[in-house]
Amino acid sequence: MNFPSLSDVDLAGKRVFIRADFNVPLNADGSLSDDTRIRAALPGILACREAGAAIMITSHLGRPREGALAPGDSLAPVAESLGSLLGRPVPLVRNWVDGDFPLAAGDVVLLENCRGNHGEKANDPSLAARIARFVDVYVNDAFGAAHRRECTLHALALAAPVACAGPLMTSELDALGRALARPARPLAAIVAGSKVSTKLEMLESLAEQVDVLVLGGGIANTFLAARGHEVGNSLHESRLLAAAGTVERRLAARGGLVWLPEDVVVADRLAADAASRVVSVDDVGKREMILDIGPDARASLAATLARAGSIVWNGPVGVFELDTFAAGTRALATAVAASPAYSIAGGGDTLAAIAHFGVADRIDYISTGGGAFLAFLEGRKLPALEALESRTQPGAPLVTHRAALEIAPA
Ligand code: 3PG
Repeated sequence: MNFPSLSDVDLAGKRVFIRADFNVPLNADGSLSDDTRIRAALPGILACREAGAAIMITSHLGRPREGALAPGDSLAPVAESLGSLLGRPVPLVRNWVDGDFPLAAGDVVLLENCRGNHGEKANDPSLAARIARFVDVYVNDAFGAAHRRECTLHALALAAPVACAGPLMTSELDALGRALARPARPLAAIVAGSKVSTKLEMLESLAEQVDVLVLGGGIANTFLAARGHEVGNSLHESRLLAAAGTVERRLAARGGLVWLPEDVVVADRLAADAASRVVSVDDVGKREMILDIGPDARASLAATLARAGSIVWNGPVGVFELDTFAAGTRALATAVAASPAYSIAGGGDTLAAIAHFGVADRIDYISTGGGAFLAFLEGRKLPALEALESRTQPGAPLVTHRAALEIAPA
């Protein structure tokens, strides 16, 4: 990375503003259902506390209307969870943009949902200037939101006296760099999900980088159709057959290949009690839907991943939420976990599959990013990183995260 990290900055006695991503899932009663993102932010918070800083943390939660936070938009459940993880209460501060709240060295306070502030979403520089008045050091530790150009992610990184990346941001970029910038080869990327259209940029970008592109779900169905297979009523996008063919050809031109299943599990409807059968991809009926990969495909996928040097995983290969169609994703999760390859996984469905099949401790790195992880795989510039980079290179053109990765430590 070509920007400073928290460990490069003098924090003693400083007012440190940490932008975290505490956009956490909540239960219907408003309680927290998963604290992974809060735990992931602890190293940065503890480092600041140990260095004797006064700590303010903010995050967005959901997509509230500016100036009109509803009770369900409040970071109160996060404050409670953070307090128990840190071993003492974390006060939640409302109306904080002018810094009118008490804060002493060693304190940790949580600043209410930043998306409630007028100007946050528009990346308003005047809001950033107001906030910067009470900040000595700005720390961006919100990899999960790095693809957003919002005030506490971008404009504030430009306005604060000192700006740096927190340890979670650094480790996410290191892990992605290890998997994509200087991967041990063969590099396999697993991209699965319902639509090619939402992941086309990612597929095009990966076609230039990976050795094997493993496809699953509706994406695989579209590629199967592009190869001339009947996919019946399976989820697929017939208008994108040409785009699928282009991705295949690009990869082949580099000596890579697209992995698609040779057999699949089909049913006439998507339901737990639907009658299913295993067929070759040449024998899918016109009224059938492909809902999982078959046993031959599971074996071939496991063999492919066992030979990989690096694996990037985004998406399940079947409807794993239903037992009838879970075997493919179970085999995938097991194969990623068993492979000697360096493995990194990200995205909501993928994390759910990892938890469902209990392989979390055997994946080398699980990203806290959903949209940011995908944006990274698409090769998009991440605005939060651009802002940090521009602080270290006054007047220089902005550097993309790709370029940043070239010099990321192994
Ligand atoms: C996420 O959960 O992916 C991030 O926090 C970004 O949230 P957003 O899509 O509401 O910007």
